Order: sequence, then structure tokens, then C-alpha cells
Amino acid sequence: MEFQLLKGFHDILPEEAILWQKLETKARKVLERHGFKEIRLPILEPAGLFKRSIGEETDIVSKEMYCFKDQKGRELSLRPEATSQVVRAYVQNRLDLKEPVSKLYLIGPMFRHERPQKGRFRQFHQIDVEIIGDPGPITDAETFVLAWELLKEIGIEGLTISINSLGCDRCRPDYRNRLMDYLNTKSTALCPDCQRRSNANPLRVFDCKQEGCKEALSLAPIISDFLCDSCKSHFQEVRTLLKMAHIPFEINPMLVRGLDYYTRTAFEITSDSLGAQNAVAGGGRYDNLISYLGGPSKPAIGFAIGMERALEILKQTHEVKLPSPHVFITALGERARQLGFSLLLSFRGKNIRAEMGYQNTSLKSQLKQADKQNARYALIIGEDEISKNVALLRDMKTSTQKELILNEVVEFVGKLLGE
Ligand code: HAM
Repeated sequence: MEFQLLKGFHDILPEEAILWQKLETKARKVLERHGFKEIRLPILEPAGLFKRSIGEETDIVSKEMYCFKDQKGRELSLRPEATSQVVRAYVQNRLDLKEPVSKLYLIGPMFRHERPQKGRFRQFHQIDVEIIGDPGPITDAETFVLAWELLKEIGIEGLTISINSLGCDRCRPDYRNRLMDYLNTKSTALCPDCQRRSNANPLRVFDCKQEGCKEALSLAPIISDFLCDSCKSHFQEVRTLLKMAHIPFEINPMLVRGLDYYTRTAFEITSDSLGAQNAVAGGGRYDNLISYLGGPSKPAIGFAIGMERALEILKQTHEVKLPSPHVFITALGERARQLGFSLLLSFRGKNIRAEMGYQNTSLKSQLKQADKQNARYALIIGEDEISKNVALLRDMKTSTQKELILNEVVEFVGKLLGE
């Protein structure tokens, strides 16, 4: 075939789409129980929005964004993540005037030009959750409880939550300087990207996957030794609340997350049912982003679940079953087919899943179709039945048949299915 699916993209076929629907339905149920409202936003935004929010030195902005110029020469980007654009929409639509705290969720595709591998795609989907307007730490703990409940409700086990505090504008500059000094002593061991980053944005060196860089970081200063009193007590309180809520977690002092907007609490949830790409969710606090993008000074926290990764785990434990017809109408001859068509509409009008053989083929071939589609019943109508004003209802499980008066068929089947 001349045209093929793009590398790193995937088609979601009906068997899999069922699981996607389940995942979304479960997620919406939990989110609504926690007071979240859905927000739907475009997948295209000005590229500058992401560059400013996520940071020029991050892998996402420097290597992975799908950017292009439109007909007017404006630089646009397919969204690589949702937080920046939720903030853009929050500020632009003055959602701060509607309620003191906005609890929003967004479900949809994101785009990153990464090297595709198992669990890593160029178009992937996220359930993104944001709470804007509260400094925490109760909101932080609530966020963890929500992420935990969401993943549990979806049916995902074997989870580990890693947390860290990334400090604030007051304490991070000191840490940044100390890290920069340390990295300068290791510069020969660093890859060219990290050599550049160690002066431009030293925290980003922690994102590097190269063994040499990882090793060079093994004795690097850690942010927790530099937290100011206020960040320290915030982080302490978050941990106390998590223990109270019985949310298991571990502290990872090296966790910095791959986006520049985080402040204070940052976290990642991994699953032991996934391969190398084992992060099923990640998030954190971003207290400065709203004002940084020209909005009011509002603290915020959020996270996103990677849906492909959640589904990968779900697939291992859940059997996929496509919905099958309740009744399959096999009509033989023109008059019977017209009658069959009108019955088809009546069944569907009563919320009964009904199908009909599209072609006027033999009874045997239509029953074969009914069987293939896993229909519960087949309704047989031919010239004989029409002249007697009846139809035959065949139980596809037992292969027994029952004669029914035509205008009682729909009600009868409805009753059978209700039993
Ligand atoms: P993130 O860690 O970049 O955070 O992405 C969140 C999740 O999306 C990851 O844990 C992973 O499950 C999934 N994910 C990321 N990249 C890919 C990929 N290429 N293929 C498949 N799945 C992927 C964010 O995006 C932040 N906006 C989360 C956030 C919300 N922070 C605050 N609010």
C-alpha cells in the first residue's frame, strides 16, 4: 500500500477502542466524584506558549515539538502536553473570576517527536488533571489520593509513587548555583547537550539518559539539602498527609521531572507491569506558571496519566469483548426484507441491539453471519412466515426456534433480554 501509518502513531481498532471507552468512563466517574470539570481545548497552539512554559532547554521543547508555520507565517505547535494550554485557557477566559479554585480535567492526544519504542509514541493520550488556585499542602495530598484512586479504579496494580520537592524561587537559585559548580567539575564526563545545559539550565542534566551523565550525577548535590524553611515544612506536611491517607510513597531526591515549570512537590508513578517506559503518571506543583504567562498570581498543581501505558497494563488483565447484536434479522425475499427493515428500526427504538443481513442471501448464509457476529437470537422471516403473519425466533445458543406473532416480536424479545 502506498500510504502507511506514520512511525510512532497508532490506529485504535474496535477491539481496543472498547478498552479506551472503559478507561475514559472509569476516569470520568472518579474525576466527577472529586469535583473536577472537563475542559476541551484545541490541539494546536502558538509554539511560544510551550516554549515559555516548559522551557527552551527541556528535551520536549528543544527536540520533540511538532512545530510548523501556518499560511500567515505564525509558528504553531501540536500540543506536547496539556498543562501549558490549560493555563492559557484559564487566563484567557478569566476562570479565576468564576471560582477561587478551579478543578479541571482534559482527555486527549499529545504529540512529541520522540524515538518510538514500546510504551513511547509520537502521538499518545493523557488524562490531564489540574487544580488551580490553592497553595496546598492539603491540595497536594488530595492530588496524590486522586491519582492513586484513578489508577486503582482503572484496575492498575503494582504502583510506586516517587516524590520530591523542587523548592521555590527563594531556595532553588542557590541549589542551581551549587549544581552548576559541581557540573563544571565533571564537564569532560558529560555529553555535549549536558555540557551546554550545565550552565544554561543545570537541573535539566538530570533528564539525560546517557550512562556517562547519569554516573557523573551520582554525587551531585541534591535539592532537599537546599530547601528553604517554608518549602521544607510544606514537603513535611505533604508527607504527613500522605501517610494519613495511607498512600505509599518513596522519596527520590533525584526526581526533577522533564519540564521547567515545576515548583515544590513533584511526583511520578511507575508500574512494575511495564517495561523500560514504566512511568504511568507524572505531575507536580507549578505555582509560578499562571503569573509567568500573564495571569493572576495563582498557585497550582496537577498530573497526567499516560493512557497508552495505563491500557498496556489493563490489556494484561482484562478480556476484551465487543458488543454483539441481541437480534440478527434474516429476511428472505423482497417483502420479508422490507418487513425486516421496519422491525430493525423498532428493535433499535426499544434500545435492543439489532442487525440485519445486508444481502438477500440464503438462510444458511445469513445464519452464519448471525453466528459470526455472536448474536443472541436470529429472527427468521420468509414468504411462508409473512403469509402466516409470524416470524421464527431462533435461540442461537440452544438452536431451538419459536414461532411468534409478527406484531408481538419486539415486545417478546425485549422481555427475554430483560430476564
Ligand atoms: P509528563 O511526565 O511529560 O508530564 O507526561 C505524563 C505521562 O504521559 C507520563 O508519565 C507517561 O505516562 C505519558 N507519556 C509521556 N510521553 C509519552 C510518550 N511519548 N508516549 C506515551 N506516553 C507518554 C506532563 O505532560 C505534565 N503536563 C503533567 C502535569 C499536569 N503536570 C502538572 N499538571
